[in-house]
Amino acid sequence: MTDTMVESGPTISSPEDLASLRDQLAAAAEGRRRVLVCSTGCLAIGAREVEATFRSEVAAAGLIGEVDVVQTGCHGLCAMAPVAVIEPYDIVYGRNRVKYIPDVISQTVMNGDVIRRFCYGRDAAMAHVEDIPFYAHQTKRVLRNVGRVDPQRIDDAIQRGVYAAAGKALTTMAPDEIVEEVKASALRGRGGGGFPAGLKWEICKQNPGNDRYLICNADEGDPGAFMDRALLEGDPHSVLEGMIISAYAIEATKGFIYVRAEYPIAVRHIRKAIDEARERGLLGDNILGSGYSLDIEVREGAGAFVCGEETAMIASLEGERGMARPKPPYPAVRGYHGEPTIINNVETFANVPLIIDEGGGDHRLQGHQDLRPRRPGQQHRPRRGADGGDDPRHRLRRRRRNAPQSRVQSRPDGRPIRRMCARLPPGPPHRLRLAQGGRGDHGLRRHDRDGQHDVHRRHRPLLHRLLRR
Ligand SMILES: Cc1cc2nc3c(=O)[nH]c(=O)nc-3n(C[C@H](O)[C@H](O)[C@H](O)COP(=O)(O)O)c2cc1C
Ligand code: FES
Repeated sequence: MTDTMVESGPTISSPEDLASLRDQLAAAAEGRRRVLVCSTGCLAIGAREVEATFRSEVAAAGLIGEVDVVQTGCHGLCAMAPVAVIEPYDIVYGRNRVKYIPDVISQTVMNGDVIRRFCYGRDAAMAHVEDIPFYAHQTKRVLRNVGRVDPQRIDDAIQRGVYAAAGKALTTMAPDEIVEEVKASALRGRGGGGFPAGLKWEICKQNPGNDRYLICNADEGDPGAFMDRALLEGDPHSVLEGMIISAYAIEATKGFIYVRAEYPIAVRHIRKAIDEARERGLLGDNILGSGYSLDIEVREGAGAFVCGEETAMIASLEGERGMARPKPPYPAVRGYHGEPTIINNVETFANVPLIIDEGGGDHRLQGHQDLRPRRPGQQHRPRRGADGGDDPRHRLRRRRRNAPQSRVQSRPDGRPIRRMCARLPPGPPHRLRLAQGGRGDHGLRRHDRDGQHDVHRRHRPLLHRLLRR
């Protein structure tokens, strides 16, 4: 099957159908051996060859049907690319090389034995996910499925519980109840401004219009940021689910995902996710038998930074030049084609199913205690060396400058940056040079401790507090 083909499967016409399919899939997956190969950023360092060799060696060993080789999103330890996780043992191997794959299959996949050279810090005591400090100190919420599912197989997402919250919201909750729940959660936008999501939705609903629109901002223009990309590439169905719930809450008739064309894998995965969801009755007419209908369209942006700004994005979606206009009126009042429009960031939408699952009050209790209830929840962060990333040219520069390593992690919002950076694998000593929070304007250099650099005034007190610890 090619990347763009949609696997057919049963149409899901109610939350009960969804739950029973989930149970069947979970029973079939119980205890299976799987090799989860990161097939996004790690492609730059040979992940495709690694995955192909795993497949051919599994076939050569007569293990087809016994061992699954799965393409996944980022496992977080990008500096150890190409990364693979071996289930059911949860063994993490980095720096995988084609010539060693027969050993990995015979020793680790079949017997659960650890090969030290591929382990985190080349230390056999840190072979399993739970033993690796980088994972042990994270609480994965929006990233919970990234690296664990094949982003191009809707059944993987369903098996992990994706779309269950949409089923609950669309069939048991009124749109206003969802808005109240999101307000109670105190969820704030992850796109930079931190505006309370529930309040924005309420304002939108107070404005009459012929139609309402929902836009997912996946432009992610901030240099060095790749949180939205990691989510779209690794778990596109959770973003779709968040959008479906949000669109229902504001009674939107149409949704858009505006994603930059420089994210080809994200574009491919989200497009395929939309096709699969449509095919299975989770998008389009009468979603899950609820009577609510929504379609979502992907639009590719040309990569202009300004198009991440909401009014410029709307202009670009309307086919105009991507230029910001003065506000008010805000898009929630006058947006796409003059109609009330909600724009939220990818990560904001990915939080919505969790809120519906847990209830807004419980969501509010997530995150760092100092920031609750003002800014609850998790935020996932890219972390890279001064010039890190998944581009091989960057890797070379990174080695030369001995900069700390690139990774993506998910921690309670408000976690001291200094503590987040302390969990690097053994290696040459390093000190904090740059930490980048959720967005570029949270970027902070060492000297910012003294307020000498241009951190936005709004963020200074918070960032100073984080760095002081
Ligand atoms: C110049 C500029 C660039 C922006 N780029 C982005 C972006 O890449 N992604 C994003 O989500 N928000 C970006 N924003 C913020 C958006 O205008 C908007 O506030 C945000 O998408 C709202 O979503 P949220 O409430 O979920 O944060 C940018 C704002 C400005 C002024
Ligand atoms: S682990 Fe492969 S890109 Fe992060």
